[in-house]
Amino acid sequence: MRTDKLRGRDFLCELDFTREEIDTILDVALDLKKRRAIGEAHNHILPGKTLFMIFYNQSLRTRNSFEAGMTQLGGHAHYLDPSKIYTPALEGREKAYSTERVSDVARTLSRMGDAIAIRCYGDPVGWEYGGSHAMIREFAKWADIPVINMECDKYHPCQGMADVMTVKEKFGGFKGVKFVMSWAYSPSIEKPRAVPQSAILYATLMGMEVTLAHPKGMELDNEVLSACKANAKKYGGSFKVENDFETALKGAHVVYPKAWTAIPAFAPPVGTRDEKKAQAIFDANKSWLCDAKKMKLADKDAIYMHCLPCDRGFEVTDEVIDGPQSVVFDEAENRLHAQKAVMSLIMR
Ligand code: CP
Repeated sequence: MRTDKLRGRDFLCELDFTREEIDTILDVALDLKKRRAIGEAHNHILPGKTLFMIFYNQSLRTRNSFEAGMTQLGGHAHYLDPSKIYTPALEGREKAYSTERVSDVARTLSRMGDAIAIRCYGDPVGWEYGGSHAMIREFAKWADIPVINMECDKYHPCQGMADVMTVKEKFGGFKGVKFVMSWAYSPSIEKPRAVPQSAILYATLMGMEVTLAHPKGMELDNEVLSACKANAKKYGGSFKVENDFETALKGAHVVYPKAWTAIPAFAPPVGTRDEKKAQAIFDANKSWLCDAKKMKLADKDAIYMHCLPCDRGFEVTDEVIDGPQSVVFDEAENRLHAQKAVMSLIMR
C-alpha cells in the first residue's frame, strides 16, 4: 500500500476501507502505544493541527481520547457543543438564527482547521435510523478536510478499531478466535446499534469466528449482516446469528454483551417509534445479564469486553466486569491509540 494512501480520507465507516488499510491503522496504533510506553514523544506528527469535535451526545471516552490524542500528537482539539453554536442542521430542518446549514458549517471549519469529528445519534435526529449517518456524510461532502465519525446511529468505527486492537493484544491474532457479540439487558431503551454493528463488521473483516446473539426483536441492520457474511466468506472466518444467549457463549474466546435498542424504538422508515413496545421487548429479556455463571460457559481463557459506559447490575455483574477476565479498561485505553493512528494517517 502507498504510505500516503490514507492521507486526506474521511473515517466514517469501516466499510469504506480495505482490510489492508485497516491492518495499517492497527499496526500504527500498536506502534504508537509502544512508543508512548517507553516515553517517546510523538508530538511532531501533527504539530499545529486542529481537530474540531462536535458532540450532539454526551461522552467520556471519545471526547477525552481525541483531546488527549491530539495533544500527544502536537496538535489541539476544540470541543464544540451544538447548543452553544448555531446547531448544524440539514437543509429542511433549519430554524432561523438557531441552526446553521451543515454545508456552511463544514466549509467554515475547513478554512480554519485540519479535521472535523462528529458524534450524533438518537434524539438529535428523532431516532430516525440512518439520519445521523446521513448528516455526517453531508459534513464529509462539503468539508475540504477529513471528517471522523465519533459514533452515529449506524457505526462507531473508532470503537471498533480499539476493540480489534484489544483482541489482537490478548490473543496475538484473529484466526480461530470465537467472538461473541451479544445483546444485554438495560433499563434504558435509548441505545444506538453502532457499537455492535461496527464490532461484527471488524471481527468478520479480521476473519474471526463471529456469533451475533440477541433475543428476537433486537435484529441489526440487514445491510450490516450481509456485509458480515461477505467478510466471513472473503477472509476465512464465519458469521452466524443465535437467539439463545447460553448457546452462543459456549466455547467463546471473546464475550462482548452490550445493550442496543429494539426496532420499535426507531422512527420511520425502520420502525414506528413506539417506546412502550420497545420497552416491553427489553423487559421480556432481563435474563440477558452477563454473570459469572454465564462466563463459565465460555472458554476458560475468555475475555469479557464492553465499550463502556455499562449499566452495572443489568448488562453485567460487578463480579464479571471487575474480575480477571475483564479487559474493559485496556479497551478504553486503546481508543486513544487507535484514534491517534487514524488521525496521524488521515490528517498529515
Ligand atoms: N465507548 C464510548 O464511545 O464511550 P463514550 O460514550 O464515553 O464516548
